[in-house]
Amino acid sequence: MLRTTLLAASRSPGVRAVVEGSRVVAPIVGRFVAGAGLDDAVAAARRLAADRLVTVDHLGEDVTDRASVDAIVAAYRALLARIADAGLSARVEVSIKLSALGQSLPADGERIALDAAGEVCAAAAAAVTTVTVDMEDHTTTDSTLAVVRALRAEHPWVGAVLQAQLRRTEADCRDLAGPGSRVRLCKGAYDEPSSVAYRRAADVDASFVRCLKVLTAGAGLPMVATHDPRLVDIARYLGARSGRPYELQMLYGVRPRAQQELAAAGERVRVYLPYGAEWYGYFMRRLAERPANVAFFLRSLLSRG
Ligand code: FDA
Repeated sequence: MLRTTLLAASRSPGVRAVVEGSRVVAPIVGRFVAGAGLDDAVAAARRLAADRLVTVDHLGEDVTDRASVDAIVAAYRALLARIADAGLSARVEVSIKLSALGQSLPADGERIALDAAGEVCAAAAAAVTTVTVDMEDHTTTDSTLAVVRALRAEHPWVGAVLQAQLRRTEADCRDLAGPGSRVRLCKGAYDEPSSVAYRRAADVDASFVRCLKVLTAGAGLPMVATHDPRLVDIARYLGARSGRPYELQMLYGVRPRAQQELAAAGERVRVYLPYGAEWYGYFMRRLAERPANVAFFLRSLLSRG
């Protein structure tokens, strides 16, 4: 119920205006977001890359005009050039969201997003690093997977994301587990109807494990994105049993000590590191994931507001 309310609020312009206008939000956002500028992102990536791998996300989603798409492509070009200049290419890649690259524009949105994502991939190739395409709500899954397939024709290292909460995902894992593929498996951060998604946590977890079994038995690189200690343990067990490389991924600001401990234990750990001014949707999804975050947020509002 709380999750559904917060996820609805993540798409409400009215709530967005109130939250963004609040003086007390900045320090709480700072737990999950590196900062507003490129310098903030590069500094945080450099720090994290000492013991972990990183994927940097330039925040933004649901873009409604062509000029914003061009601005986001330019931001990724600048980011990738800085990653290369800083000598971080071997440890730092980028994540992109197709809704920030025009996927939902009325005329030819998928083609616009494919072209824009292609430009980001070309810049990543020049910087000698890789790109992973985030997954958004279920209405975009087919289109996003079609774009990933098209990008992989030229850049076979492009990573895809699959969400265990969707009923289709076990089959998608089978399709995508081929040689050279990179698949990030997560639970899914969007509020989806029961017609397409498991709604009970136990069912999502069971689906996650089934998908993990498919990916770790496949020929690609499974990238296991979860903070759930039980699923991390299962991923480590299945990954070790497969005898093939795999990656554990967590979000910036979430279970940082566990990230460090796993890296120190020899696991390949990657941190998803967002930066930029468009933090609202991302931040609200992080609040929705954990009731304690909301309590912390409300306490801060009451004590300082
Ligand atoms: P779960 O939500 O059950 O959390 C398990 C435990 O982790 C909690 O009990 C708590 O201790 C901790 N935790 C989890 N979230 C927290 C938070 N926000 N704050 C504090 N503690 C928290 N989703 C998507 O739809 N598309 C995508 O492309 C991606 N990409 C992505 C990349 C990476 C690297 C990660 C880690 C996650 C994503 N996600 C995502 C988000 C994902 O779908 C999911 O919403 C979150 O990871 C939370 O689910 P968990 O698997 O962590 O389990």
